[in-house]
Formats: sequence, C-alpha cells, structure tokens
Amino acid sequence: MCCVMSVLMVCWEHVDHHVMSHVKSYSYRYLINSYDFINKSLSVSPEEASRFASFPYLLNSKNICRDKDVLLLLFVKSSPGNFKRRQAIRSTWGNESFINEELGVVVKVVFAMGVRPGQFGREALQKKLHKEQANHGDLVQQDFMDTFHNLTVKLLLQFHWTHSNCPHAHFLMSADDDVFIHVPNLVHYLQDLHQQNVRNLWVGHVHRGAPPVRRRDSKYYMPFNMYQWSSYPDYTAGAGYVVSGDVADKIYQASLSLNASMYIDDVFMGICAIAAGVSPQEHVYFSGEGKTPYHPCIYEKMITSHGHEGDIRYLWKAAIGPQVDSISSGLLGKLYCTAVKMMLLCKPYFTNSYTCMAAFT
Ligand SMILES: *[C@@H]1O[C@H](CO)[C@@H](O)[C@H](O)[C@H]1NC(C)=O
Ligand SMILES: *[C@@H]1O[C@H](CO)[C@@H](O)[C@H](O)[C@H]1NC(C)=O
Ligand SMILES: *[C@@H]1O[C@H](CO)[C@@H](O)[C@H](O)[C@H]1NC(C)=O
Ligand SMILES: *[C@@H]1O[C@H](CO)[C@@H](O)[C@H](O)[C@H]1NC(C)=O
Repeated sequence: MCCVMSVLMVCWEHVDHHVMSHVKSYSYRYLINSYDFINKSLSVSPEEASRFASFPYLLNSKNICRDKDVLLLLFVKSSPGNFKRRQAIRSTWGNESFINEELGVVVKVVFAMGVRPGQFGREALQKKLHKEQANHGDLVQQDFMDTFHNLTVKLLLQFHWTHSNCPHAHFLMSADDDVFIHVPNLVHYLQDLHQQNVRNLWVGHVHRGAPPVRRRDSKYYMPFNMYQWSSYPDYTAGAGYVVSGDVADKIYQASLSLNASMYIDDVFMGICAIAAGVSPQEHVYFSGEGKTPYHPCIYEKMITSHGHEGDIRYLWKAAIGPQVDSISSGLLGKLYCTAVKMMLLCKPYFTNSYTCMAAFT
C-alpha cells in the first residue's frame, strides 16, 4: 500500500507540475499576451548577434536561384551523414525537374547542414559531401557543429543564405529531412496565395501558449537563465512551415539584433517573429511531430507529415497516384472521404497528427 502510495505521489508530482506549467502558460498567453520583454531583454548589439551567424561556408550553391522566377525556396534541415534521406527526397517530392515539368513552376530544394561533431571520420565524410555537391549542387554547409543544440544556428543560416542568394523567392519553406511534403498540393496552395499577392504569411502547425520545459532530463529542457518567462511566443512546428518572401526578409532583419542563444529553433523563430511583428497562422494539413494516417482521402489535401524515412518512396507513389483524385471526386466521394477522415482523425486521445478539424475542410 505504502509502495503504491509513493509511486502515485511521485507520478502526481509530475502531472501536477506539467498541468501547472500549462495553466501558467495559457494564462500568460491568453490573459496577458504581451511579449514586450522580447524586444527589451533579448536585444543585443549587431556585433553580438552576428557571432551566431558568421560561420564560414564550406559548401555553397550560390547561383541556383539566379535569373529564375522562384515560387518556393525549400530548405531541408539535413545533417552531413544523412545521404540516404537526401537521395530519397531528390527522387521523390524534392525532384525539381518533375515539379517543373508537371506543375510548371520553379521550386529550388537546398539542404542545410553544419559539420559532424568529433574529428573521427570527418575528412572522409567531407570528401563524400564534395562528391555529392559535384553531382547535385544543392548543399549549403557552414563550419559549425551539426548538433541538436545548434539548430538555431542552422535556422540563421537559412535566413542569411536566402537574404544573400535568393531574396526574390516568393515563398521560403523550412523542413526536416524526415518530413514528407505533398509538393503538388503545396504548390497549388502557394500559387493561389501568390495570385492574391499575399504578404505577411507564416503558416504551419501552430503551437500557442506552449510552456518552457523545466525538467532537466528532457531533450527540450530550457534553463531559466536562457528563458525566464512562463510561456513561449506562438510558433509553428519546425517539421515544416512556410513564410512569404517579405516575412523571410523581416525575420532576417530581426535576427540581426537578437540574442540567438535560445537553442530551440522553432521557438527562436517565434521570438524573431514577435520582434518583426509577424504572427503565425494555422493550416490543418501541416503536421507537427505526428505522422498522418495512410489513406488516399488524406493524400488529397495533405501538405506535410513528419517522421518518414523508409516509406518516402512508397508514400510519394501513393500520394500522387490517380486513385487519390478518383476516390474523392463527386458528392459521394466527398461524403465518403469526410467519413473516412473523421474515423482516422477524430480520436478521443491526442495523436499529434492532423486535428479533427481537417476532416471538415
Ligand atoms: C518589437 O520591436 C519591433 C520593431 O521595433 C516592433 O515592430 C514590434 O512590434 C515590437 N514588439 C513588441 C512586442 O513590442
Ligand atoms: C525526376 O523527375 C524526372 C521527370 O519526371 C525524371 O525523369 C527523373 O528520373 C526523376 N529523377 C529522379 C532522381 O528520380
Ligand atoms: C555549435 O557550433 C559551434 C561552432 O562549431 C561550437 O563551438 C559549439 O560548441 C556548438 N554548440 C553546441 C551546443 O553544439
Ligand atoms: C545571451 O543569452 C545568454 C543566456 O541565454 C547569456 O548568457 C548571454 O550573456 C546573452 N548574450 C548577450 C550578448 O547578452
């Protein structure tokens, strides 16, 4: 009995803490909703700020946007050793010639990375990367350690590189290298927005009023001296989000005077956005951490899904196959797909892929 009680107490302590931090965070987000401290506390001099973003380029692909009307510059956050993932992306959703031929637009896919930490095998790896660059010419590598805690440095790389080498891209996307992107759906969505001349766009899977994690054993542990407030500003999941060209420039400008030691890159993006006066908007078919269910009715509307590696080629074939359009066409098809999506997405427990709302849009 005593033993059970102590286990319960320990668990309760955990839950309690978790619940309390969310209550605090939501109250902050929805009652106070002022992130003035960001401008005040996180501003640094341009010299200080540039220390986070002045690593020399080891590999670059400077001219890939030149003289082209680029609809979308798509940055994939990769790491030096992830050859297989890059190859899978190039031969599926990141195949630029396929996109150009089938969709009639220019999308440029670029892989961003640092260098592998530790000396062991680094030379050989760099040699392989040079070869890959000679074959594909789509790598951008800076001389910083490619680690989890340097993801914000990778974020800065993307915005700095865009500012210098592709400022005319109409949209910029940042995505993980284990994300599946339904590029045809994405391109149609962005073409619509482009026709409406949309500005101030930041779209993805939005986290609102997320509390900083204060448990030391968590991957996302946030020390008080790095972020002392009870709520993060709104931000989109880093798995995949899109900004319009004007926002890309504003974020770049804001980053020139911010302390980038906050190592959670998605949250840092939220910090830049506050300083730039931009707020994120939700799109139900951008996923967060979650993997979406496999079904043609889902593929019809999906934009991103997270956590794919071995199944990217399968998913690509399935997601752009002719079956997808036929299954959802006509009134009956629409009703059928709504029913299927309700079954797949409207679950009573939290699944972290698309929300139930996606069944009705
Ligand atoms: C921070 O400063 C920027 C630029 O001066 C401004 O546009 C923005 O609204 C400010 N944000 C807050 C929360 O005060
Ligand atoms: C990319 O698409 C083109 C045109 O559809 C195709 O010919 C080519 O084989 C594809 N590339 C890869 C690496 O799959
Ligand atoms: C980030 O990269 C820099 C430059 O290589 C390195 O000095 C630093 O230790 C790295 N930080 C982390 C947390 O890995
Ligand atoms: C940036 O923030 C860190 C804490 O996260 C702090 O240690 C550092 O001194 C700050 N840098 C500047 C220049 O204020």
